[in-house]
Amino acid sequence: MKKRCLVLTGGGDCPGLNAVIRAIVKRADKEPDWEIIGSIDAYNGILNDPMEYKILDNKAIAGIHVKGGTILGTTNKGGPFNWPIETELGEWKTVDRSDELLERFDELNVKAVISIGGDGSQSISQKLYEKGCNIIGIPKTIDNDLSSTDYTFGFQTAVEIATEALDKLVTTAESHHRIMILEVMGRDAGWIALHTAIAGGAEVCLIPEIAYDVDKIKKSIEERTDKRGGFANIVIAEGTHPQKGKIVAQSTTEIGYENIRLGGVGFELAEQLKKTGMKSDIRTTILGHIQRGGIPIAYDRILATRFGVKALEMVLDGDFGKMVAYKHPDIIGVTLQEAIASYNYIDLESNLIKTARGIGISFGD
Ligand code: F6P
Repeated sequence: MKKRCLVLTGGGDCPGLNAVIRAIVKRADKEPDWEIIGSIDAYNGILNDPMEYKILDNKAIAGIHVKGGTILGTTNKGGPFNWPIETELGEWKTVDRSDELLERFDELNVKAVISIGGDGSQSISQKLYEKGCNIIGIPKTIDNDLSSTDYTFGFQTAVEIATEALDKLVTTAESHHRIMILEVMGRDAGWIALHTAIAGGAEVCLIPEIAYDVDKIKKSIEERTDKRGGFANIVIAEGTHPQKGKIVAQSTTEIGYENIRLGGVGFELAEQLKKTGMKSDIRTTILGHIQRGGIPIAYDRILATRFGVKALEMVLDGDFGKMVAYKHPDIIGVTLQEAIASYNYIDLESNLIKTARGIGISFGD
């Protein structure tokens, strides 16, 4: 029987996931001893009864590099270490099913695992590695918030989508002399917002790394205001908060969902600006999941393909407990421990921030 390498996608979907899967399968096709199988909906496919997985051969992955989402399905709820179950009293609790998962890997002759996911998935990979699992991580997230890689795939596509949206909003801002607010994703790091603001020519960029002062935003807009009230374009990341205030989150009843559901800070900002006495009309657009969907741009397909090939080669070399990472110009392996040790916040002294300030973008500080 061939040795099996199990591939799975976990966390939020992201443009380029299918390009990674295709690259892994194509590279494995050169190895007669190995077969690739894909678990459905992250680890759920292996932990469900009956198990849900599929053999990934060349036919299964033909042409998928241009498709958004993931052909394997994904979930950002629960996981092998905190699997949600309903008690007899109708309450929910979590149980650790990691031992069972490893037993099922043996049953399926899985000799290696490639887990494609964000920071949460990489933490699960580290814990499985500590339990003896031969695992490799691949970093994915549109938020670009994983340290130890220059970029995660999916990020550049999200920036492209957000910039296109900003370009469209600028038209209305100019024509109606309005303030247009574009809320983009970015839980704890404002990478999408910052790139979009620079590329799309926003006057204000608000990011989680810098708590804003609404009076400073007002001042920066009024400095370039004409008699009719002036127009301005503001890009704000969903996880941003004012100096005197908290992040805007919604409650959720989704079982096993551990994240805070962000969204709506753009509307709050509009209210705050109005209260300062700003005369201009204000409109808010929340881009939401549009940023995560659709066709990956060429940059992300290439990065995803490089990650996929490298991950399979690390499997062949037995170089486990690592995550593939982009360190220009190379794709390297870093330990999962290192990958999850720190978070990729924007360095406020970085050239990108200085560039933005240099062209007059206000961060509300
Ligand atoms: O982590 C990526 C991300 O896009 C965040 O920016 C966002 O807050 C989150 O996923 C939303 O995920 P979902 O609504 O799919 O649970």
